[in-house]
Amino acid sequence: MTQSKGPIRTAVFPVAGMGTRFLPATKANPKEMLPVVDKPLIQYAAEEAVAAGISTLVFVTGRNKRSIPDHFDKAYELEHELEQRGKQQLLEQVRNIVPPDVTCVYVRQSDALGLGHAVACAHPIVRNEPFAVILADDLIEEASGGATRQMVEQYAEHGCSVLGVEEVPENRTHQYGIIDPVQTGPRSWDVKGIVEKPDPADAPSNVAVVGRYILTPAIFDMLATQKPGAGGEIQLTDAIARLLERERVTAFNFEGRRFDCGSKMGYLEATVEFALNHPELADDFAAYLRTRSAR
Ligand code: G1P
Repeated sequence: MTQSKGPIRTAVFPVAGMGTRFLPATKANPKEMLPVVDKPLIQYAAEEAVAAGISTLVFVTGRNKRSIPDHFDKAYELEHELEQRGKQQLLEQVRNIVPPDVTCVYVRQSDALGLGHAVACAHPIVRNEPFAVILADDLIEEASGGATRQMVEQYAEHGCSVLGVEEVPENRTHQYGIIDPVQTGPRSWDVKGIVEKPDPADAPSNVAVVGRYILTPAIFDMLATQKPGAGGEIQLTDAIARLLERERVTAFNFEGRRFDCGSKMGYLEATVEFALNHPELADDFAAYLRTRSAR
């Protein structure tokens, strides 16, 4: 079936998860608001979308997530205070979390029924257009314009859904959606099948989906009738498996290192790497690490 290659205008950010792996830090605060150095994870994700030319950000939220809309909204008192104190640089930073031509929309996912269900909640806003899905706890270092930009370029080239993937150690397949791949280029594959979190013995490969998707709107037809799968949740992976029966789906290993900030270890690695690249901190932090490892 021929599909549209229209621009990707909308990104969906499922942010209703409970963040149990980070309790107690996530008891009252969403995991997407955990900072890496000085920005919350969700801001890195939003900036990645904006860098890809996306102008509507749809946040699928749940309980305890009020700080996310607050973060992207105006903060009158804070801005006034910074203005009074002449803190111009900080003022610019809090004012320009997203550019003025970007619209943020919030949809509430009242039941935590899984990632597929969260994406389906965005259907009334996305409607009949291709769109991006960005999981903020997969933090990706910026390279070649950012992961989402590279994925959007792949979509423009092929006109079909694109899954962001990377090869993972074989004993980790049970943590990811795993594709049955046919390699088509150094960084690209055709997807022949996909399974959610298979045991290594059952995994079709070690090529794993890592929190970035460009999806055609046909996914909403699949999600509308999707039965619960792994963990009793409505899985996006299962809907993609059914989409494959109707359309071509590709996978792309974008440039840029990924940090699994849903795990404590990945989060710490991201913090160290982003600090070592931070214009204000890099030198002092590198010096600290040297003295620390000499101890
Ligand atoms: C989700 C998806 C999984 C994907 C992963 C990437 O799982 O269901 O297919 O590989 O994100 O981070 P989660 O990590 O939310 O359990």
